[in-house]
Amino acid sequence: MTEHRPLAVVTGASTGIGYELAKICATNGFDLVVAADEPAINTTADEFRSLGATTEAVETDLATLDGVDRLYDAVRRLGRPVEALLANAGVGLGKGFLDQDFAKVRRVIDTNVTGTVYLIHKIGRDMRANNSGRILITGSIAGYMPGSFQAVYNASKAFLDNFAFALRNELKDTEVTVSVLMPGPTDTEFFRRAEMLDTEVGQQKKDDPAVVAKAGFDAMMSGEGDVVSGWKNKLQTTLANITPPGILAEQHRKMAAPGTGKSS
Ligand SMILES: NC(=O)c1ccc[n+]([C@@H]2O[C@H](COP(=O)([O-])OP(=O)(O)OC[C@H]3O[C@@H](n4cnc5c(N)ncnc54)[C@H](OP(=O)(O)O)[C@@H]3O)[C@@H](O)[C@H]2O)c1
Repeated sequence: MTEHRPLAVVTGASTGIGYELAKICATNGFDLVVAADEPAINTTADEFRSLGATTEAVETDLATLDGVDRLYDAVRRLGRPVEALLANAGVGLGKGFLDQDFAKVRRVIDTNVTGTVYLIHKIGRDMRANNSGRILITGSIAGYMPGSFQAVYNASKAFLDNFAFALRNELKDTEVTVSVLMPGPTDTEFFRRAEMLDTEVGQQKKDDPAVVAKAGFDAMMSGEGDVVSGWKNKLQTTLANITPPGILAEQHRKMAAPGTGKSS
């Protein structure tokens, strides 16, 4: 790795928003440590290398503490400070809560919440010790709405949206910044993996992950607290702040309940 390039760690970099975040980091002068659960991350890493970023790929399950430790150890072995942590890996899960497989429910919480905060705890401590670093957490506008038929996922994103602002405040007297990217529905593997292709939200036109990632990267680099990408999503979060939760839950049912999509 070249010493003069700052180092970014991007989780969930094999597809979707994380892939685009890693690409933007690479084209903006960062070297990379990229992580994902499946072997595809090793081939995806070649794309980042072709953009000029020295890249270390770590295939690891970030739903487990051991998996996060493996990523952290790989970072430590490089002996370089992490200038940017883009904690992006996450999974969704559709259908009614009581109809979901609890192992999958737990995986949403373990990946989106436990694995994410554990990684931030470890790398965040190093950043604070260096008094330097940028953290970007991929939250979601879903965190603003009780997510009927995606209940645990939305709750996990409400956790992250909220957590990001608290950590940001705790670090306000340091040179470590915390930003949260709140995408709306984005065109990635997410809805297929969440088993939501028969829903309205699963079938609607979605945002371009490259555009969403650019908004997140820019917010991280300028140290903004949060960024909601796209005017429709901005309007939705503004309205969500003044709408009773029961009404939001009913609205969410209409777009996320199984069978709400036009085609199945
Ligand atoms: N798409 C949307 O509409 C949307 C909206 C708001 C927020 N978000 C958030 O954006 C983030 C990225 O999602 P996406 O839409 O880009 O979906 P995606 O295409 O499914 O990408 C998810 C990424 O996370 C990785 N990942 C998932 N579980 C993991 C685990 N246990 N350990 C390691 N890596 C894991 C995946 O790697 P593997 O393939 O190797 O598992 C993949 O690289 C998530 O946090 C999601 O909640 C998405």
